[in-house]
Amino acid sequence: MKSVFVDGILEGKSALITGGGSGIGAGIAARLAAQGAKVTLVGRTLEKLERVAGEIKAAGGTARAASADVRDYAALEAVIAGHAEAFGGLDILVNSAAGNFLAPASTLSANGFRAVIDIDLCGTFNASRAAFAHLAKAGGCVVSVTATQATIPTPLQCHAGAAKAGIEKLTRDLALEWGGSKIRVNAIAPGPIEGTEGMSRLAPGDVADGLKRRVPLGRYGTIDEIAEAVLYLVSPAAAYVTGATLLVDGGTSLIGAGPFLELMG
Ligand code: COA
Repeated sequence: MKSVFVDGILEGKSALITGGGSGIGAGIAARLAAQGAKVTLVGRTLEKLERVAGEIKAAGGTARAASADVRDYAALEAVIAGHAEAFGGLDILVNSAAGNFLAPASTLSANGFRAVIDIDLCGTFNASRAAFAHLAKAGGCVVSVTATQATIPTPLQCHAGAAKAGIEKLTRDLALEWGGSKIRVNAIAPGPIEGTEGMSRLAPGDVADGLKRRVPLGRYGTIDEIAEAVLYLVSPAAAYVTGATLLVDGGTSLIGAGPFLELMG
């Protein structure tokens, strides 16, 4: 899908994307790069990051790969400093790193709950905090990827729901505090997106079939559609938008947990 935005709208900008090695994060990175942003992909597995960076470069973009676990603040600080040095600053941070699995609250271990909070919520704070000085210098912006579980009670998702709800609240708090530094802070909440690890992990066969039938827009979304919405949030078109969570879910949240309720047995 070609962007509806003016070509080269991010010329002269740079962006760092956590979770950029696959799925939605990789799609966002490719779309920002296609619009002229120089991008750094951050994640745990260097080979995956390098593969995506290679694809972006083959398509004419500028990309680098830097491995770091978003739970490790010092490592993130180092990759953000490396990005700023390589590209002369940092304009856009996209927090897309996430971990998730289906687990009933009654048997989920404390460590399992904490692992998801650490990756999603603490990882988002860590990257945002480590990027603050660079973003303030640039008058930049943050976009964090959440999920509809943040607001919709969803079976077997208490860990992810709490983490994503935390990110949406953090988004509003950072937007309030950082507005004076000319940093916009927003979030995006994708619904079911085809071809993602999240969907294969979270929507087993019959749930996926039931879900597809009941999405108000009648289909799953695409990674390109999420990337395009992120492009809006980081573009001048959203210059007065901060503290918002943009739902991009084809209306799925309107049916509540819907077929996911079947997972409770
Ligand atoms: N059900 C229940 N508990 C689970 C689980 C599952 N499917 N998968 C992991 N856990 C628990 C582990 O048992 C462990 O707890 P314990 O020490 O009490 O046994 C805890 O979570 C941490 O697991 P571990 O594998 O050591 O963590 P990790 O840091 O290596 O991996 C995860 C983090 C668990 C989130 C892993 O799924 C991951 O890395 N995911 C990234 C990719 C992803 O999830 N993408 C989809 C995003 S929507």
